[in-house]
Amino acid sequence: MTSERRRFIGSNLKMANDRESTMALLEAAVELATRDARQFFFFPSMIFVSEAVQRVAGSPVFIGSQGCSVHRSGAYTGEVSAQMIRDVGAQAVMVGHYERVVAGESLDLFVAQAARAHEVGLRVLFCLGEREQARNPDAVSDLLSDVAVLQRRLPDAPWVLAYEPHWAIGEHGTRPESAYVSARLSALRTGLREVGWEHVPVVYGGSVDSGNAEELDPLADGLFVGRSAWSPAGLREICTLTQAKERT
Ligand code: PGA
Repeated sequence: MTSERRRFIGSNLKMANDRESTMALLEAAVELATRDARQFFFFPSMIFVSEAVQRVAGSPVFIGSQGCSVHRSGAYTGEVSAQMIRDVGAQAVMVGHYERVVAGESLDLFVAQAARAHEVGLRVLFCLGEREQARNPDAVSDLLSDVAVLQRRLPDAPWVLAYEPHWAIGEHGTRPESAYVSARLSALRTGLREVGWEHVPVVYGGSVDSGNAEELDPLADGLFVGRSAWSPAGLREICTLTQAKERT
């Protein structure tokens, strides 16, 4: 991490926040972003993406969708194309999240989604993390082989990588230890350097909370927070705890 790199703070709202609480959270984010130089980004439920974009209009906060179709357009019931996401003014698409892996989706599919998003000028936040449910000191090979696949198959690098070990995610996840996260991030950065992607920022996600945010944030280029940032109070707390260490 160098001090010139852009810092990030964002949240995946999953299917947790309803319309009202999504908009309340974004209002808090817009306000926080007036005195915090980090790039704020949120992935609300697809149904609220359009309204979310309008709610943050004129602010530096980015809105993205929790995925997109691998198809450009056509008879694909229930799907939403990258172009449609772009049309409503969103800036980003998240792909590769652990909960999509649990739903049966593969790295191939995530790569295809990322390629579609790039085609229409959307930024891609790509989630990567060791897939074992237990902490495994050798699990770094997963990360490095995924990076190699992305670099081979995506003409453009993702906007941001989110390092999210599967064992750390969600309410049944294990809170991470910073030494472990730090070791994984440094292996991941070595892998990124080897493929010429050292400029790609890496944020950390998985059981970030008010007890560990301050310690985890400086290890990465920022944080990708779930549950702990779904309320305005939670988001403010995480931002306050980490902002002192951020450049403004
Ligand atoms: P969590 O979610 O912070 O609630 O563990 C993180 C994520 O799923 O990205």
